[in-house]
Amino acid sequence: MDNQDIKSEIRELLKKRNAVLLAHNYMRDEVQEIADITGDSLALSIEAAKTSAEVIVFCGVHFMAESASILSPGKKVLLPRLDAGCPMADMITVESLLEMKKRFPGVPVVTYVNSSAAVKAHTDICCTSANAGRVVNSLAEDELIFTPDRNLGRFVAKTSNKKFHFWDGFCPTHERLRSEDVIRLKAEYPDALFICHPECNPAVSDLADHACSTSGMYDYCRKSPAKRFIIGTEAGILYRLKKENPDKEFILASPGLICPNMKLISLEDILASLRTLAPEVRVEEDIRIPAKTALDRMLAVPRD
Ligand code: 13P
Ligand code: SF4
Repeated sequence: MDNQDIKSEIRELLKKRNAVLLAHNYMRDEVQEIADITGDSLALSIEAAKTSAEVIVFCGVHFMAESASILSPGKKVLLPRLDAGCPMADMITVESLLEMKKRFPGVPVVTYVNSSAAVKAHTDICCTSANAGRVVNSLAEDELIFTPDRNLGRFVAKTSNKKFHFWDGFCPTHERLRSEDVIRLKAEYPDALFICHPECNPAVSDLADHACSTSGMYDYCRKSPAKRFIIGTEAGILYRLKKENPDKEFILASPGLICPNMKLISLEDILASLRTLAPEVRVEEDIRIPAKTALDRMLAVPRD
């Protein structure tokens, strides 16, 4: 079967199964091309919570499919590759979080959505890279525990008066980008703006003209009068940036900016998943209910 035939069968099956195909902005080009909705973690959570489809085919990584299941328990959530995980999410366990909470009794826990459902269940409020600052400001307390991404935590702390206790997690993909790479590219392309994701380490995000979520990058690059951008996030972002801005140039800040997990799901995997309605991701009720409270609190924080 060639790609065109696979895509046609996927579209037919999506209709037949009353399914919606959600894809993160880092997915392979051909997966983004066929998706009903592409977006960042926040946009995809909102969509998962409100869709009327019976089946959600989630093209992303495991924690994202879990969030969809938490928010839409009546729906079947499919993750075409169950082995698509997130190493950052794996850097925190419930046991280690409970240890930290014991060290700071009464201090609220803010957890980046890149975490397991079980960790979310022991969290006061979740955040994404698109709303982390607003979530932190929404807290009544002046002190907080921020997990698991130390880089996003430090990025938010720069503009906050609150006291942060950071978890020592990070994204191995974004961590590969070094400040030397950016300095070299800025010297080579002095007219280019450097845009990065706050998962990059502080030495890198300090060099950025703008740091934001993946969807924030689309808005920023579309509105900016600049013609050239150095991009400090996963390579999958380039697909839509180039498509939406054919007159602009986008330079990936490092060839290391490829997340192997985000590249796992292929068109064949999506087709197989729609044919068999598997593999399914479902979060058990004892974890789902408290995890949903943390996600609902995040979704209730007013948007700008
Ligand atoms: P956002 O799309 O929410 O910015 O997330 C980035 C990411 O690393 C997801 O794994
Ligand atoms: Fe996890 Fe980083 Fe990959 Fe996102 S890009 S899924 S944070 S490893």
